Amino acid sequence: MPYCVTFRPDATLQRQENETRLRTQFGALELTKLQAALPGVVDRIAAGRDTEEALAGWVLETRGLKGLSIFHRWWAVLVQHAYIAYRLRDEDRVLAHLNPLGFGFRFSARPLDENGPWCLSRFALMRRRDGDLVLECPKAWAEVVVWDPRLCALLFSLTKAVDRNALSRTTDLPPRSVAAFLAMLQCAGALCRIDPDGRPDEEKHQALAHWDVHDLYFHSRSRMGRHANGWATTYRFKGRFDPLPQIKAPMSPEVIDLHRPGSPAQASAEAVPEFFPVLETRASRRCYASEPIHLRQLGEFLHHCFRVKQKYDDELGGVTFRPTPGGGALHSLELYVLVQACQGLAPGFYHYQPLDHRLEKIGDPTPLTQRMLLLGRQMMLDQDNPQVEIVVASRFQRIQWKYESIAYSVILKDVGCLYQTMYLVAEAMGLAGVALGGGDADLFAAVSGLDYFAEGSVGAFMLGSRRASDDADPKKEGHHE
Ligand SMILES: Cc1cc2nc3c(=O)[nH]c(=O)nc-3n(C[C@H](O)[C@H](O)[C@H](O)COP(=O)(O)O)c2cc1C
Repeated sequence: MPYCVTFRPDATLQRQENETRLRTQFGALELTKLQAALPGVVDRIAAGRDTEEALAGWVLETRGLKGLSIFHRWWAVLVQHAYIAYRLRDEDRVLAHLNPLGFGFRFSARPLDENGPWCLSRFALMRRRDGDLVLECPKAWAEVVVWDPRLCALLFSLTKAVDRNALSRTTDLPPRSVAAFLAMLQCAGALCRIDPDGRPDEEKHQALAHWDVHDLYFHSRSRMGRHANGWATTYRFKGRFDPLPQIKAPMSPEVIDLHRPGSPAQASAEAVPEFFPVLETRASRRCYASEPIHLRQLGEFLHHCFRVKQKYDDELGGVTFRPTPGGGALHSLELYVLVQACQGLAPGFYHYQPLDHRLEKIGDPTPLTQRMLLLGRQMMLDQDNPQVEIVVASRFQRIQWKYESIAYSVILKDVGCLYQTMYLVAEAMGLAGVALGGGDADLFAAVSGLDYFAEGSVGAFMLGSRRASDDADPKKEGHHE
């Protein structure tokens, strides 16, 4: 096998007195007994200069047959738990590394089919990471780090169906290195076999065929299992950047204080709708009464959904508590209110300031705000003219500063929670509301003047006065976008 073996790069070897342990952020393996039985073997593996055969040969020479059987037992454990990485060498030159990323990883030195044809998976991506060229694919539990540029030419050839002979003609690498590299790609899930009908085998996998490339990356990288990236609460930007504060600095000097209703707990029993009937009748409502929603109702709606109930300061950016839940109580979401028709409030573009429960007027209607409302209207199935569109944006860094790998998924989960809170409050208040799944983040950036990468739109909710007839059958045909 032309591969040298070593520990996976995200594993650290911890040695304390007589104890040796191999640790990744997702688990640890005790190597104390291996170290005691075969002194020096852990260091040889860590050095990464031996093939598996050379290691076994060295153990046989120094520890005899009994040592070899101990080595084989431990080797099986290391391989089984995906602690071993493989380095492809051609004479003295390192060509590529194969690094396990998850415990599902299994190494195989033989490509799917000895002669091909093969092609790259449509999910394989290459990127720069700390000076390395990394190829990854969320179909499996490993990544390939490409060290030799000649391998890039092979990868280019694999963008189309190519067999062993054609591939060999594109490179001066020896055939065994080409075969070993193909095996690495296969272990990383990046190599497809071309079936006799000329199609890559992965296209016939029904479940896989349904995935967009970016969705499968998002899924696999924001859940544990097949990546070795920092995980959840790591505070990786601490000391480098300041955390964003709980509340944004004022966006405008022109403010409108909003109505604050008494808390439902204090109100009389008759005035407060019961929870379960509200839950049962809640529906997406896209048709409005001719009298638009009133500013007082808008204030009450925002109060029940999103105001700050409690605010705590600390050196980690602090937290707030609101009617809607938020991951880590960080509440990165900001609400922007695009008004077309609201009694008591001029049409325009506003930001909701949830601590003082007020709107900050950012601007009057413009062709861009009109475009946004038109898009909103189209997204709610062209049922009616929008009255109020509440655009949900995220100050991404509030979440990213604390969480790694899961940040964007937490943001979208927060949006889901907020949607449900908005639906229920709209229902309880007798308003018409519908969540919008799509939206144009660039249009929002143009309307708001905010940096696309710093604060972007991640959702929207259409709100208006409810048309009486809309109570009849909320599940009308076609209302299921
Ligand atoms: C995440 C999410 C996105 C949605 N996106 C849209 C949308 O873009 N346009 C729309 O008219 N309705 C949208 N809806 C509303 C759904 O169509 C609606 O919830 C579904 O048809 C079920 O109907 P119900 O809400 O009345 O129970 C969305 C709902 C959710 C939860």
